[in-house]
Parts: sequence; structure tokens; C-alpha cells
Amino acid sequence: MPPAEDRDALRVLMAPDLPSGLVEHIDRVVSVAEVLARIHGLDERRVLLAAQGHDLLRGLSKPDLLAAAATRSLEVTEFERNEPVLLHGPLGAIELEARGWMDDPELLEAIRWHTTGRPDYTPIAWALFVADKVEPAKLERWPALEAVAEEMEHSLERAALRYLDLLHDRLAGEGKPSHPLAERTRAALRERTAAGR
Ligand SMILES: [Fe+2]
Ligand SMILES: [Fe+2]
Repeated sequence: MPPAEDRDALRVLMAPDLPSGLVEHIDRVVSVAEVLARIHGLDERRVLLAAQGHDLLRGLSKPDLLAAAATRSLEVTEFERNEPVLLHGPLGAIELEARGWMDDPELLEAIRWHTTGRPDYTPIAWALFVADKVEPAKLERWPALEAVAEEMEHSLERAALRYLDLLHDRLAGEGKPSHPLAERTRAALRERTAAGR
């Protein structure tokens, strides 16, 4: 099967796999990503494809995510074994490629690490990352995210940093550790944005 050309085509392919709540979340992320693509002059078609594909496996249960990781020979860290939901990005990227639905390496990479971010992320990947965090339902559940939504109009990297700072503080307050990759991403963004980029 040739890869999906655009967001609408991928949406049709994914529909049978997704519970309705997830379809609605993805639709909202796509809408925010569309705004961000326009503001920041990004390739809208590709940003929307990444946004559409990002949560293909978000509906899997924890045991199913661990089983899928074993099937795909994906290395699972101890952190991920305790929080299998973190595997839905890497596994989703593998699945999209294996099904022949997506073959764009930059988009697959954006999907792979959309939960934690990555120090070397590209603007398209940051657009997906930020859109996923501030879609309206999440904003409603956690109003502190408003600061991320305000910043995203000016800088995707500064918006991502604000999100990672908020998450770090929240987890620290709950006595929980942050994902090591999220912490590396946060440190890299802090350095870059302090350098005035
Ligand atoms: Fe996700
Ligand atoms: Fe998501």
C-alpha cells in the first residue's frame, strides 16, 4: 500500500483501530497543529500527517503495549516497563511504517518521541509535540498549560520548554521521577532558548 498522501487519507485508514475518544483527541490535535503550521510557516500537509498519525496505538492496554514491544523487538527500559504508555509513540511509528501508511522519516521521528520530546527535534516535530499538549480538552483539565498555549504563537521551542518545566514540577511535587529523555530534552531546550534562539 502506498503511504497516505494527506491527513484525510490517513484518518480513514486509522479509523477502525481507534476508540471514539481518541479520534476526537486526534482531531483536536490536528486543528491546533494546523494553526501552528501556519503561524510558523511549516509544511502544513506534513505537519497534519504527523498529527493525525501520532496516537495510532494510544488506545492499547499496558499489557498489549508490552506485548507489542516484544513482538517488534523494541528495547524496553525499566522506566517504560513501569509506565508502558510511554511506548505508544515508538511503537506507533513502527506500526505506521510497517503497515505502509507512512514513510517520511522526519514525521516518523516526530511521532516516535512525541511524549518526551527530543533534543534534536525539528520544527515539525515541535509543532506536533506542542499541539498534543495544549489541545482544548487537555487545557481544560490542566489550566497551567495556558502559559504553553500563549508561548506557542511566538516560539515552539520555548513553548515546549514551558511544558516540560510544568511537567517536571508536577511530577516532582508528586514524588515521581521524570522520563530521562524528557529531562535531556528540557536541558537542551533551556540551553538553546537561553542562547536567544
Ligand atoms: Fe500520545
Ligand atoms: Fe496525543
